[in-house]
Amino acid sequence: MSNECKKERHAKRSKSDMVNLIQNVDQKDDLKYNRRAFLKTAVGASMALGLSTVPFSVRAMMGLSEPDHERVEIAKLADLPEGDSVTFYYPTENDPALLIHTVNGDLVAYNSACTHLMCPVFYEKEEDVLLCPCHKGYFDVNNGHPVAGPPQRELPLIEIEVENGTVYAVGRQFRHG
Ligand code: FES
Repeated sequence: MSNECKKERHAKRSKSDMVNLIQNVDQKDDLKYNRRAFLKTAVGASMALGLSTVPFSVRAMMGLSEPDHERVEIAKLADLPEGDSVTFYYPTENDPALLIHTVNGDLVAYNSACTHLMCPVFYEKEEDVLLCPCHKGYFDVNNGHPVAGPPQRELPLIEIEVENGTVYAVGRQFRHG
């Protein structure tokens, strides 16, 4: 058999193999399996996302403390006269917070990222209130609840302890808005 004939036969066989292969693939099944795989992935992803947010929402609804955080020194009481506040970070360096010695002599602390759009909140001692200057959001300094402007949720409360004239952060609470 000549080389030309061999080449021609080989080309014909390759072509018919290809046709057989394509015919063997049932396109309906293929679509069905792809759809099934996509749905499985989508359901799995949304369940994982839902489960990851449950602990936070449950804690927020029940007003519970977060699991243990480190005890962190914030300031010496002697350095914080009434009407003053000091910024610190708690529980991580990405969580700005404010310790306030109110004009009434109380010590309170909150995470200071506004619950509207995260601008920093400041203590206005003249009005004894927490103010977010971005959109004039106001929070009650005694409990961190929003009292005016766009914010709808409380500021997370930082639990504090005073020992030997030093103020420590010891925990954090999310309250239900
Ligand atoms: S970011 Fe605080 S009021 Fe808008």
